[in-house]
Amino acid sequence: MPTPLIVRKRAEMRNLILTNRASGKRIGFVPTMGSLHQGHTSLVEHATAECDDVITSIFVNPSQFGPDEDYKEYPRDLHADVHLLAQHGVRWVFAPDVQEMFPPGDSTRVEVSGPAKPYEGTLRPGHFSGVATVVLRLLQSAPAHKIYFGAKDWQQILVVRQMVRDLGVDVEVVTCPTVRDKDGLAMSSRNTYLSETDREQALTIYSSLQQAKKHWCNGIAINKIEKDLKTMLSAKKIQIEYADIVDAESLQKIPESNPSTPAIILIACRVGSTRLIDNLLLPSQTLSSC
Ligand code: PAF
Repeated sequence: MPTPLIVRKRAEMRNLILTNRASGKRIGFVPTMGSLHQGHTSLVEHATAECDDVITSIFVNPSQFGPDEDYKEYPRDLHADVHLLAQHGVRWVFAPDVQEMFPPGDSTRVEVSGPAKPYEGTLRPGHFSGVATVVLRLLQSAPAHKIYFGAKDWQQILVVRQMVRDLGVDVEVVTCPTVRDKDGLAMSSRNTYLSETDREQALTIYSSLQQAKKHWCNGIAINKIEKDLKTMLSAKKIQIEYADIVDAESLQKIPESNPSTPAIILIACRVGSTRLIDNLLLPSQTLSSC
């Protein structure tokens, strides 16, 4: 497979995409912060299956990290990432530097609300404004037909969808399934922070999600499922930030009287010093998949 073209400038990227669109090409966009793993390459595979050409961005976005977060430590290896993307047939890698995306004097941010308010929005103030701002700027640089996100960052998808709708951005947001290691741990660039013991502990996240799903399908009350979920995580000394069952679209609590709305279990927790998030969509209790 040919090596992807690495593009550093927004204007050059935009011209390339617009030229290819004009010649009838359907373009798929996979935005990333690099340190790529199978979660990312599966997004590329979805994009390749649906589009003529794929662009991937690699940009560790400072505006979505809080002051006490891991912006500086976030793993970066452009060379390895480009090598991996070459094996998956990506045509362009957009890898701007910070000055290119946020030039000196820059002062405009997308203000987000609605699905950006609870959970990550409360615990990581400014995070989703940073995500929405960079996704909008990335899409202006690479005006693709479709943009691909992994379901692991469920709330991020809701925020991006809302932004795309509200600002009339001409792109289709595609959600792809979470990719897990064989042992069930959701793939994340931050998994590299986990020690062997942390990793062992972290497996409880997936087993607790599975147990909660089983209880959901057996019609057990939501409060009780959440309580058991938290007990299971705490028993492994996992520090819970939230572990809730909510409406998958509004992220609001589900009334016990109407558990038929599309539901999701959302978890954020710390294993050792590493913050992990995970989730599981719950099938309707009336379906045979339950
Ligand atoms: O999910 C991510 O990797 C990032 O939040 C994104 C969408 C690339 C924006 O920086």
